[in-house]
Amino acid sequence: MVNNYREWPSPVNTSNGLGEQHFLQQALFNQNFPKAQKDMMNKMIQEALAKGIIHSHDSQSITQSASEGSVADYVLFTSPNIKLTAKMDEDKKIVNEALFLKLLSERPELPKGFSKHFPRVYAISHKPPYGYIMEYFNMKSLGEHIFKAKRKKESAVKALHLILKILFNVYTKTRDYRIVPNIQNLYLQRITERLEEARMANSKFNKLSNDRITINGQKFETPEFYLEQIDKNVSDFHVNFTTFVHGDCHPENILVGFNEDKEIDIKFIDPKDWYSGDYMYDVGKLAHYLFGTGPAQMVHAPPVPQIDVGNASLNYHLNTEQFHVDELLTIIHKKVAVFAAKVQDSKWKQRYKLSLASNLLGTPPARLKSENSKLINAAFMLYGEGLISLANCV
Ligand SMILES: Nc1ncnc2c1ncn2[C@@H]1O[C@H](COP(=O)(O)OP(=O)(O)O)[C@@H](O)[C@H]1O
Ligand SMILES: [Mg+2]
Repeated sequence: MVNNYREWPSPVNTSNGLGEQHFLQQALFNQNFPKAQKDMMNKMIQEALAKGIIHSHDSQSITQSASEGSVADYVLFTSPNIKLTAKMDEDKKIVNEALFLKLLSERPELPKGFSKHFPRVYAISHKPPYGYIMEYFNMKSLGEHIFKAKRKKESAVKALHLILKILFNVYTKTRDYRIVPNIQNLYLQRITERLEEARMANSKFNKLSNDRITINGQKFETPEFYLEQIDKNVSDFHVNFTTFVHGDCHPENILVGFNEDKEIDIKFIDPKDWYSGDYMYDVGKLAHYLFGTGPAQMVHAPPVPQIDVGNASLNYHLNTEQFHVDELLTIIHKKVAVFAAKVQDSKWKQRYKLSLASNLLGTPPARLKSENSKLINAAFMLYGEGLISLANCV
């Protein structure tokens, strides 16, 4: 999320340090909070209340027999009891995100009940400061459950099964054979653009990524070398349909609630307003995080890579064993294999590797631009993992 609100006083930083989420309550009670944003949030809340949108959900109501002096038979006491999240951005694109979420419940092609897995949008600010207010979920992300919380492996496994069930149900039902994903644009061009951005942001990264390097003792060509090979054989990655896609469903954008009765609640947040695309893009978003982003930056003591630009080498160790990453990835692979066979997506394995590469190589720019050494370290390790995935495609 591009925003220029990094200067805001003491923002609540809830995620990975890259995106900042400003919670409504804090915003409204914080005197230092910028007035324009605060006013806009208030306006949105009033709009939602006026339309009765907020009131109709989640309110605690009690009906009482009216007292003797009252004319009415019953009086209903109701106290709206919901928590809201405000998401604001300088970029107007956030309005599209809000509209995408709002429309989910109206789209007839989506499976019944699917929109319940996304936040309800209560009001949108179509004018600067752009943003929207939505339902707040008091839930941890899948990323936190796997890499931070001391939850049993079985819980993560169960949650992942449910997430995949929801996603593959929507992929199955929304297949559209009239539109095909553009592999070059979706994966190759994205890698090229992100590499360029990362190289501009950090000179060490620039040098390392323009060279043939050795990663953990294994030699690799430059990314451009692999990109050229893939481009020549792009038909090996072809798929002849699109589906609904979330577009950014990495485990920090999937919230998982474990209820007392052991039922699991899944909520997807922060979607891209793409409406359709290659389901393998979503799969790559989910999977790359498990062996890449999670172990590189979510764990308690993230590893520090050894970067030797002079010798063109990169060494690091990502701890995946402790977090049962292999087992979780196997669950994903099996689900994809069954779906791919059913829909005759014969090139899924090639595209899976490319999606991993594209997602991993897409991560460095934002991290290299940050001043956080943990994130900068992660950028180099994720580059390493991305290059290995890219080499795997040829
Ligand atoms: N509706 C919500 N309920 C609870 N937490 C939320 C909600 N929306 C966002 N968050 C929290 O704020 C973080 C950042 O919001 P997100 O929409 O993912 O924006 P970004 O584009 O910065 O990643 C999320 O990772 C999550 O922790
Ligand atoms: Mg997010």
